[in-house]
Amino acid sequence: QASQRIRNFSIIAHIDHGKSTLADRLIEYTGALSKREMEEQVLDNMDLERERGITIKLQTVQLTYKAHDGEVYELNLIDTPGHVDFTYEVSRSLAACEGALLVVDAVQGIEAQTLANVYLALENNLEIISVINKIDLPSAEPERVKEEIEEVIGLDASEAILASAKTGIGIEEILERVVKMVPPPQGEDQAPLKALIFDSKFDAYKGAISYVRIVEGRIAKGTKMKMMATGKVFEVTEVGVFLPAIRIVDELKAGQVGFIAASIKNVKDTQVGDTITDAENPATEALPGYRQATPMVFCGLYPVDASDYNRMRDSLEKLHLNDASLVFEPETSVALGFGFRCGFLGLLHMEIVQERLEREYDLNLITTAPSVIYNVNTLKGDVVKIDNPSNLPPLESIVSIEEPIVKATILVPAEYVGAIMELNQEKRGTYLTMDYVSKSRVKLIYELPLSEIVFDYFDQLKSRTKGYASLDYELCGYQETDLVKIDVLLNGEMVDALSFIVHRAKSYNRGRKLVEKLRGIIPRQMFEIPIQSVIGNKVIARETVSAMRKDVLSKCYGGDISRKRKLLEKQKVGKKRMKQVGSVAIPQDAFMAVLKIE
Ligand code: GTP
Repeated sequence: QASQRIRNFSIIAHIDHGKSTLADRLIEYTGALSKREMEEQVLDNMDLERERGITIKLQTVQLTYKAHDGEVYELNLIDTPGHVDFTYEVSRSLAACEGALLVVDAVQGIEAQTLANVYLALENNLEIISVINKIDLPSAEPERVKEEIEEVIGLDASEAILASAKTGIGIEEILERVVKMVPPPQGEDQAPLKALIFDSKFDAYKGAISYVRIVEGRIAKGTKMKMMATGKVFEVTEVGVFLPAIRIVDELKAGQVGFIAASIKNVKDTQVGDTITDAENPATEALPGYRQATPMVFCGLYPVDASDYNRMRDSLEKLHLNDASLVFEPETSVALGFGFRCGFLGLLHMEIVQERLEREYDLNLITTAPSVIYNVNTLKGDVVKIDNPSNLPPLESIVSIEEPIVKATILVPAEYVGAIMELNQEKRGTYLTMDYVSKSRVKLIYELPLSEIVFDYFDQLKSRTKGYASLDYELCGYQETDLVKIDVLLNGEMVDALSFIVHRAKSYNRGRKLVEKLRGIIPRQMFEIPIQSVIGNKVIARETVSAMRKDVLSKCYGGDISRKRKLLEKQKVGKKRMKQVGSVAIPQDAFMAVLKIE
C-alpha cells in the first residue's frame, strides 16, 4: 500500500497571481534550498520563461516537511503551466495529484484561467485549498475575493488561507493544510506497474526523461518498461526525484512522483498522458485520459538566407526533441523558397518557438501569418485539411469549408461588457451566457471562430478593456462557414505567402485594408509597384508604391568610398529581415500585416 505520509499537490492560478513565488516560498520554508541558493525562481527554469515571467514547461519538486503532528511528510509539488495553450499538460499534471492549492490574487480576484484550472482540478477530483495571495498589497480585498470564490466556483471560502508569497505570510498554514486536507495517495505497490507521464524533457546525457506519478506498482533501474500507447519497450537506467536538485533513488513506488531515464532518443516516445508499465508484468489497462497533443495553429517559417535551410532543419529537430507538440514539415513557397510549415498548440507556443529559433539557434526568419486548420469538402467527396491558405483547392472544386470553433470564457469588470460584446460581434461570435461573478464583475461565454482569435483577438480584448479582461478557450468543434481566399499580387506576381482565408462578408474590407497597409510597408524601388488583392480572378483592391526618386548612393557625391561602404552596410542591416520576391523586397512586417488590419 502507498505510503500514508505522501501528499501530491499542484498550484493552480491565473498568470501572475503568484504561483511561482509561492512555490519558491514553500521550497525555501521546507529547507530544500537556502534563500541565497534560490536566487531566482527555481521552478521556472528556462530563460525565456524567466523573461516572460510565465511557466511553460512544468517541473516537480519533492519537499520534506515535519508537520505539527510530529510526523515527517513527503510533499510532492507539481508545477503547471499557466496558459491556455498548455491546458492538456495542466490536466495531466493535475491527474498526478490528490490536491491543489487554488491561488487567487487578492487584488485581481478570479480570472479566466483560474476558472479553467479549477474545472480541471474538479474533473480530477482534487481536494482544493483556497489561498488568497498578495494580502500585503494595500489594495488587497480578501473579503471580495472570498465572495467570488464562493459565488463563481461554489467552494466554501470561509477557510481560505490569507497569504503573501512575497513576505511569507501564511506559508506554514498552507503546508499544514496540505498535510491535513490533501488525501494520501491510494494504490498498491505490489500491483502491476502503472505510471502516468505528466511531462517529459530531453537531456543531452540521459536522453528523454519522463516525469511520472507512480499510480500502482514500482519501478527501478533495470525494469523493462513499456509505453502503453506505442508499445515500445525501454530499459530503465535511472529513477530519481528533484529536491529540486536531482537525487537518484533505488526505486519509485505507488504514490510517489519522480523521473525515469531510459536512454530514450526522442521525447516522442515519452508522451504526456501515456502510461508506463512493466513489460514483464504488464497492467491490463492504461490510465485514462491519454490523447495526443494536436496543433491548432500553423505558420510558415522560412530562413531569410536560403543557405540557412539545413541549419534550420537541424534546429527544429533539436527543439522537437524537447517539445513533442511542435510539428513541422518541409514546405515550398513560390515567394519565399524552401522553409517549413510548423504547427503549434496555440499562439503563445508559436511565439516561443520562433523566439527560441532566433535566439538560441541564431536564425534569421521570415514568419508567415498564422492559420488554423480548415476542413474543405470537395466535389469528389473528400475532406481535405488545409493548414496553409495558399493550398486551398480551386473554388470550383469546393463544396463547403468548415472552420474550428472555440468556446471562450471572458471575465471582465461590468463596465466593459459593452466593449466585449461589440468586439465579439465583429469577430463573428455567438453569445451563449452572461453571469455576474460579483457585484462588479461579469463572466461571458461565447462561441468564436478560432481564426478570429488568431486574428489579433487578444490584443483587441486587452486594449478595449484597459487590460482588465481575461480569456480562456477550448476547441468545441467545426462549423460550416462561407469563407473565401484572398491572394495578394505584388507587381503583378502572386505572393503565395500572403494569401489568407476570411469570411466572405469581411473579404472586401480586409482585402482593401491589407493593400493599404502593405503600401506603407513595402519599401520603394526604382519603379512603381502595384499591390492588388484578389479573390479568384477578381481584383478587389489596388494601391501603388510609387517609385523612388533618388538613388541612395547619389548622396555620396561620388568621392568618399568609405562613406559609400558605410551606407551600403547600413542598407544591408536594414534589409536583414526582408525577402526578395521577384523584383520586390518584402519585409517581415508585410507577412504579419494581415493580422493588424481591423
Ligand atoms: P505564471 O508563472 O505565469 O503562472 O505566473 P505566476 O502565477 O507564477 O506569478 P509569479 O509568481 O511570477 O508572480 C507574479 C508577480 O507577482 C511577480 O512580480 C511577483 O513578485 C508578484 N507576487 C507574487 N506573490 C506576491 C505577494 O504575495 N505579494 C506581492 N506584493 N507580490 C507578489
